[in-house]
Amino acid sequence: MSLSTPAEGTTSRLLPARPVPEDLDAHLAGFGPRPTVEPGAMIDALERSGLRGRGGADFPTGVKWRAVTEEAQHGGGAVVVANAAECEPASFKDRFLLTYRPHLVLDGLEHAAEALGARRVVIYTTRSHSDVEAALRAAIRERRRRDDSDRFVEVLVGPNRYVAGEETALIARVSGHLAKPKMVPPRPFQSGVDRLPTLVQNVETLAHAALIARFGASWFRSVGTERSPGTALLTVSGAVRTPGVLEAACDTTIAAIVDRAGGVDEAPAAVLLGGYFGRWVAADRIWNRTIDADSLRSVGGSLGTGVLVVVPATTCGITETDRVLTYLAGQSAGQCGPCHAGLPAIAETFHKVATGRARPAALELLTRWSNDVSGRGACRHPDGAVLFLTSAMEVFAADLRHHLKQGECRFSGRPSLLPIPAVEAGWW
Ligand SMILES: Cc1cc2nc3c(=O)[nH]c(=O)nc-3n(C[C@H](O)[C@H](O)[C@H](O)COP(=O)(O)O)c2cc1C
Ligand code: SF4
Repeated sequence: MSLSTPAEGTTSRLLPARPVPEDLDAHLAGFGPRPTVEPGAMIDALERSGLRGRGGADFPTGVKWRAVTEEAQHGGGAVVVANAAECEPASFKDRFLLTYRPHLVLDGLEHAAEALGARRVVIYTTRSHSDVEAALRAAIRERRRRDDSDRFVEVLVGPNRYVAGEETALIARVSGHLAKPKMVPPRPFQSGVDRLPTLVQNVETLAHAALIARFGASWFRSVGTERSPGTALLTVSGAVRTPGVLEAACDTTIAAIVDRAGGVDEAPAAVLLGGYFGRWVAADRIWNRTIDADSLRSVGGSLGTGVLVVVPATTCGITETDRVLTYLAGQSAGQCGPCHAGLPAIAETFHKVATGRARPAALELLTRWSNDVSGRGACRHPDGAVLFLTSAMEVFAADLRHHLKQGECRFSGRPSLLPIPAVEAGWW
């Protein structure tokens, strides 16, 4: 993975011109000091900007800040948590942002803390991202040396498990419990860390907020589309010549993004869009589409965490799906029956299909079980896993029939294109 330096003629806001980590001096030289913005004006600017969360749910950021502020007025104050968990195995964008531009994220975090009058401010990352933790701690130390502000930003480290970055899991961990998701309501904005109204915000979203505080809502809207303004960080991998993290305006086509990642090194068959909770789409259906929400929704997808994996015809989509499903089934927090029992049953059956050991009725069973587990968990883990599976069954339908009848194909033995992390034990 590399950090793709901004190409001429492309919009780059979050990523530095050179892949060199920026210390506080470099940050101040480039952006100047963080402006003081009155809380109401900050939230208004976010609402007008149309910024939506970059952690996967695409929720309007200004709406969330206002909701937390209103809840916090009932007394007790608020908590702000920056979500730097990045538990999505195919995503590297948050790690890159925190490594190269930590101060932009910290600026956004301070704006959030000020706007909400937060009494606790936390950055939550995961144990396996130790380089990010070190970069963050160094950046926080630099700021403390420069500024006698008494605001204390805590860095908290949780387990690298797929669902530990979900906001209620993260809140549980920050409150001193295991990092397992909880039923909602109450939602985090109502009752989160230590039962206080809590803002959980992805680190990329916070970096955009820091720029909106400096340059305003109209500036933010000057690229992208009406519904998806601004730019987004993307992790582009698979059959591209230079896999890595790049930034693109939200009205850029997939074809242009792949070009910036060096172009394809094999004819593309499909694209995995949004990560392991995302959707497979046939390459010819998506190649000339832009990455804004309306455009991707028309093919049943979303940008999710900004993951784009280009899959060539010489990679077996069924074998890739099989490996990821087994991983996702093992990531259940084991609290909700349909997820705890249903996902392993689905993964085992799909594995039998992929290896030619299933009966023809297995496909019907997979569809039925997918419907049964969808929407039946405390968090969206089963829904995400099922979208990944059902979109694979649709996009790789011909391959699926081949596997069902004849077992593994000539490409099944190729090394995994989609990363499968080692499973971490424990939830602390
Ligand atoms: C299973 C699961 C895992 C998630 N993991 C992450 C994560 O690693 N990082 C992240 O920022 N958001 C993650 N999210 C989304 C968060 O719950 C939450 O919506 C997000 O942090 C809010 O920030 P945003 O509005 O800036 O996107 C996850 C959601 C789910 C359902
Ligand atoms: S749906 Fe699955 S991962 Fe989510 S809380 Fe329930 S058991 Fe845990």
